[in-house]
Amino acid sequence: MDKIETNRLLANADGIATAAQILRDGGLVAFPTETVYGLGADACNGRAVAGVFAAKGRPAFNPLIVHVADLEMAQRFGVLSNAALALVEKDWPEALTIVVPVRDGTGLSDPGTAGQDSLATRVPRSDNALELLRAFGGPVAAPSANPSGRISPTTAQHVLAGLDGRIDAVLDGGATPAGIESTIIGFLGQEPALLREGAYVPSAALAVAQNSQTAPTAPGQLASHYAPVATVRLEAKAPEPGEFLIGFGAVSGDISLSPSGDLIEAAAALYAALHEADARGVTRLAIAPIPNEGLGRAINDRLRRAAAPRG
Ligand code: TXA
Ligand code: MG
Repeated sequence: MDKIETNRLLANADGIATAAQILRDGGLVAFPTETVYGLGADACNGRAVAGVFAAKGRPAFNPLIVHVADLEMAQRFGVLSNAALALVEKDWPEALTIVVPVRDGTGLSDPGTAGQDSLATRVPRSDNALELLRAFGGPVAAPSANPSGRISPTTAQHVLAGLDGRIDAVLDGGATPAGIESTIIGFLGQEPALLREGAYVPSAALAVAQNSQTAPTAPGQLASHYAPVATVRLEAKAPEPGEFLIGFGAVSGDISLSPSGDLIEAAAALYAALHEADARGVTRLAIAPIPNEGLGRAINDRLRRAAAPRG
């Protein structure tokens, strides 16, 4: 791949207009959402979408989330069941992605959906993301803006650390507030299915198949993922010699996801902590136990993948 110059745009009116123009021209722009930075391309431009796969080194079987400005735009590309509609009417814009049957003949590019007959789509909550989607006026395919398999970016610096020279621009809107990817809920079968735990915690009232042992998972949910360079040991209450410890609550560590044991704060800090360990050249990482409830389920999901044997 030829190296190109990656421009850093500020997330103000000018920067957003420039980013929208890059999308119209078939280019690649990383932009902030409330979860993590996404690497955006015009979802109807097959060449642009192919460029996303190339820039990330992403396997072609792994489809992208199509980001839309509103529910009406989502319905142009996907067929929402009553159950799907009820949920997103209540909760969008949110860190909530739904998987629904794709509508035929809408011009969505094949590589984006990876040839699946379903579509993953969401309306992000972030103002910067919404303004970019409105300025562009169409659907934006956007995976997290990291090289495939690595840690998702929560700052523009993280994006540049992984993709500088491979994308046209990054729209810098500061650190992303939620810090962990969207929750993915599938509406293809009888019951909604939880395909990926994430920043949105479904209400107890939603009868979503919670058991990820039996529910199908999103195709991109490979065992080793979100991986720092270091090896990772989980449930660590104290460091072993030579380990860098990421703490939580009473386990203080070299740095802490949340000294007070707050899961929202921990999710927001998680990827920055893993990126920091990489930046410091850490080779052995240990991570304190995180309670497996609410947002802690998504954090533990990411930590298990960070710790999984590498393929
Ligand atoms: O928070 C997020 O979701 C971020 C921001 C940028 O929106 N995006 C993100 O994208 O995390 P990505 O590509 O890193 O993860 C998308 C996941 C992948 O695991 C992929 O397999 C799954 O969504 N996915 C996409 N289309 C799907 C489909 N039709 N059926 C099931 N899973 C799908
Ligand atoms: Mg990703």
